[in-house]
Amino acid sequence: MGKRDHWNSVYATKSEDTVSWFQKDAQPSLDLILTHPEAAARGVVDIGAGASRLVDRLLDNGIEDVTLLDLSDRSFDVVRDRLIGRDVQPTFVVQDVTAWQPARTFGVWHDRAAFHFLSDRASQDAYLSVLKSATAPGAIVIMATFADDGPERCSALPVRRYSSEELSTRIGPSFRLLETRKIGHQTPGGTTQRFQYSVFEAV
Ligand SMILES: C[S@@+](CC[C@H](N)C(=O)[O-])C[C@H]1O[C@@H](n2cnc3c(N)ncnc32)[C@H](O)[C@@H]1O
Repeated sequence: MGKRDHWNSVYATKSEDTVSWFQKDAQPSLDLILTHPEAAARGVVDIGAGASRLVDRLLDNGIEDVTLLDLSDRSFDVVRDRLIGRDVQPTFVVQDVTAWQPARTFGVWHDRAAFHFLSDRASQDAYLSVLKSATAPGAIVIMATFADDGPERCSALPVRRYSSEELSTRIGPSFRLLETRKIGHQTPGGTTQRFQYSVFEAV
């Protein structure tokens, strides 16, 4: 099964709030984004957004320029249903991030648990090249991955785990590390997954 089929099948067969990565409050992502209001006003893109409720909270907080990118169009059906009746809607991009050619830049690039699926160097390089083309100096980049003591698989797929130091080195000198946090994510199934959140500024 290809990547897109895998993710579409996940979102077709499981409800939004039963997947292991489900969060009701989208924290600490929301607080980290709200800490940078000027960057957020230049547009927020959520990479591998899936059915995340982060977009709902961003709109609630007056951040209206939001782009969601995901391989899976099925995940966006869930988001579209949830946002019915809202005046302001996000832009949906159904695309493999490593092949994306963004037509604009964003003030905030957010990725929770998408980059860590890229296990080979070529696809990581492709991702980082898209990241560079989508951000100008001053942009904020928030990257959440499984931590170095986190799980080795997510959604039955192998993942690459990172410490903030490793991630910082991999992202390279075009991005300056501002802040890092390690948190335990409680899954709906009752286990704890260690994540690292790193915040960078494009220089
Ligand atoms: C573990 S889920 C996390 C979803 C969301 N970020 C959250 O925190 O709730 C990973 C998401 O990344 C998407 N994804 C995986 N690889 C991708 C890729 N190469 N390009 C775009 N999206 C991808 C999947 O479809 C899925 O929705």
